[in-house]
Amino acid sequence: MTSLQKYNVAVVGATGAVGEKILDSLNNKQIPINQLLLLSSKRSAGTEIEFQGTTYTVQEAKPESFEGIDIAFFSAGGSVSKKLAPEAVKRGAVVIDNTSAFRMDPEVPLVVPEVNAQDIKNHNGIIANPNCSTIQMVAALQPLKEKYGLSRIVVSTYQAVSGAGNEAVDELRDQAKAFLNGEEMESNILPVSGEENHYPIAFNALPQIDVFQDNGYTFEEMKMINETKKIMHDESMKVAATCVRLPFFTSHAESVYIEVDTEGLTAADVKEALSKAPGIVLQDDPNNQVYPTPLTAEGKTDVFVGRVRKDLDNDKGFHLWIVSDNLLKGAAWNSVQIAEATIQNNWLKK
Ligand SMILES: NC(=O)c1ccc[n+]([C@@H]2O[C@H](COP(=O)([O-])OP(=O)(O)OC[C@H]3O[C@@H](n4cnc5c(N)ncnc54)[C@H](OP(=O)(O)O)[C@@H]3O)[C@@H](O)[C@H]2O)c1
Repeated sequence: MTSLQKYNVAVVGATGAVGEKILDSLNNKQIPINQLLLLSSKRSAGTEIEFQGTTYTVQEAKPESFEGIDIAFFSAGGSVSKKLAPEAVKRGAVVIDNTSAFRMDPEVPLVVPEVNAQDIKNHNGIIANPNCSTIQMVAALQPLKEKYGLSRIVVSTYQAVSGAGNEAVDELRDQAKAFLNGEEMESNILPVSGEENHYPIAFNALPQIDVFQDNGYTFEEMKMINETKKIMHDESMKVAATCVRLPFFTSHAESVYIEVDTEGLTAADVKEALSKAPGIVLQDDPNNQVYPTPLTAEGKTDVFVGRVRKDLDNDKGFHLWIVSDNLLKGAAWNSVQIAEATIQNNWLKK
């Protein structure tokens, strides 16, 4: 296949928070599309969605939907991917999966193009898109790893409600309205839909994202730890994470402490490496109160870094503040970048 070719593209979960942004990203990336197929559950089948001037009717996703599809983006939850991604691959499609279903499968490349695009060529039909909070962190840390070495990461996240899907966005909006009207806040989704207890997110902070594991970490925290090692090809890297949900709609922020291998570096050295890195925008000018925030990062595809400081006690320690739109670089944009790299390098078919 050549880059002049047009592709039949399916989006599974097209009516969801990530699916909507995949369509926006496909628009901006201009992957040449022959046929576009928009899929959802039975609930939204029949919904009409406009893309590049054409109105498409959303259809229920079934195994036979993937006949003739070249590239299928999946963002409809892990169980849907587990069931339907192999069906799509069986019919000749390459699947780019946004869920956690295949991320830690040794046969499946887990890709952030700025870090490990070369891994794509080893795919067997499925390429996994990492967790949103992992993507922005590894994109910002890879240039530092390459230049100065990296042995330890300790991250605390400040994550937006859209990371938990459109229902969580609605829940925050409804709770905020209720609170300001002096009414009781109803909690049915967060911290984890399907768990027994739910707590208000409006005017609150929830130190639980996804379910708890036996070791006391949440699944989101373990995703950040394990996925970082896999993407950076470094099982010996020391990684710890604390993931917290906060009441804003879009973009995750992260306070990240790192230990590099090189002695005697300054914050200016770290900033210099970041300022030249692809997809990274340095916003760091304390004298003029310049630093990234979730609101300023919203709608943008870059990863923004600010508040770069040298640790006061450890010569090899540095602190950074990393912010990016969780639905774009954290999900849709990264998957469309993967598709683009796959096409450009002729890696679509094995
Ligand atoms: N939000 C993020 O920041 C983010 C980032 C990275 C990865 N992800 C992952 O991406 C996936 C989707 O997340 P989201 O935030 O977009 O969720 P969402 O807003 O709740 O949307 C879910 C989408 O999946 C569809 N769906 C549900 N059940 C289905 C089924 N049985 N068959 C086919 N389609 C089905 C829904 O269709 P209906 O309209 O018919 O219900 C909807 O289009 C999740 O696995 C999530 O972990 C999310």
